[in-house]
Amino acid sequence: MADIRNKNVLVTGGAGFIGSHLCDALLQSGVGKVVCVDNFFLGKMENLSEAQKHENFILYRDDARHFGVLQSIMERECIDIVFNMATIALNYSFFNPFDAYMVNVSIANTLLELLKMGAYKTLIHTSSSEAYGTAQYSPMDENHPTDPTTPYAAGKAAADLMVHSFAKVLDMDISIVRPFNNYGPRQNAEGPLAGIIPATAKRIKNGEKPIINGDGEQTRDFIFVGDTVRGLLLAYEKEESRGKIINLGSGKDISMNSLLNLICEYMGYRGEWEHREGRTSDVRKLCAEIKRAREILGFDPQISFEEGIKMTLDWYQENCLI
Ligand SMILES: NC(=O)c1ccc[n+]([C@@H]2O[C@H](COP(=O)([O-])OP(=O)(O)OC[C@H]3O[C@@H](n4cnc5c(N)ncnc54)[C@H](O)[C@@H]3O)[C@@H](O)[C@H]2O)c1
Repeated sequence: MADIRNKNVLVTGGAGFIGSHLCDALLQSGVGKVVCVDNFFLGKMENLSEAQKHENFILYRDDARHFGVLQSIMERECIDIVFNMATIALNYSFFNPFDAYMVNVSIANTLLELLKMGAYKTLIHTSSSEAYGTAQYSPMDENHPTDPTTPYAAGKAAADLMVHSFAKVLDMDISIVRPFNNYGPRQNAEGPLAGIIPATAKRIKNGEKPIINGDGEQTRDFIFVGDTVRGLLLAYEKEESRGKIINLGSGKDISMNSLLNLICEYMGYRGEWEHREGRTSDVRKLCAEIKRAREILGFDPQISFEEGIKMTLDWYQENCLI
């Protein structure tokens, strides 16, 4: 079992939704220092308000794609472990498909080169369930074929192939974690890259109808962000995860109709929904098989969907974001 205490940890994308929760959890775990590298494409300083209370938290506003940037930070901060969380949200694929794809591949490429050179020791790489595409069978285990439906997902799948093959051929200290749909406090609530939960609650608050694409029977496997962060830390600690891809989900799928119903109920909304045409790139069904996470990491999600939705919407309300 690897001990994270006193290790110096770099988190790419640490000012984002999941990355900022990971920084907070690392700082509670007795690590040496937590170094966040984020270019603030979607990251926010507010997400780091807890982390910044710690003396051993260091922030670099910089681009994790660039070899020279990461190399100099790693040397200066004597980094042991990298958690790769940086990405540009899926919806960016619809505006700028090339960059939505490339950011995932470029950052993985840079991190692999640096690991190969010995600039740090262990990489915990974050994939996404989007790499699978629509379920060909359900629940989806890690052997399910990857058939991405967006450039974002193609970039995730391509990065995974690269990272996984390097881990095998060069016997590198790498684990790949594949989270399903995360939700919770700090998910982006603004503009076209907003998460569906805050975006829907915000529309209702502003007197607009919630939007549903297609028949609303498309499903996702929702996992509370705190559970994902626990899974990421376990992936470092449990060395049996090295060289493997491990799903992190709840093992249950929830339709978009059910999700919107829960949000409407919380917001006390009984009005109509705006029905839009289904997006062709929308994955139809996602549900995780989490047997491997249970066996290797001893992982089971602790927050139920109903509990998590309430905690999430309470947080947005307390922070006057909905
Ligand atoms: N949110 C989900 O439902 C979900 C599901 C599965 C996997 N994931 C994966 O988890 C990771 C974190 O996702 P998230 O939801 O927190 O996303 P996010 O957009 O909230 O965070 C990503 C962060 O990366 C930063 N970033 C983007 N490009 C960068 C660059 N070139 N250099 C440095 N920083 C850069 C952004 O500013 C942002 O702060 C990603 O790898 C994502 O693919 C997320």
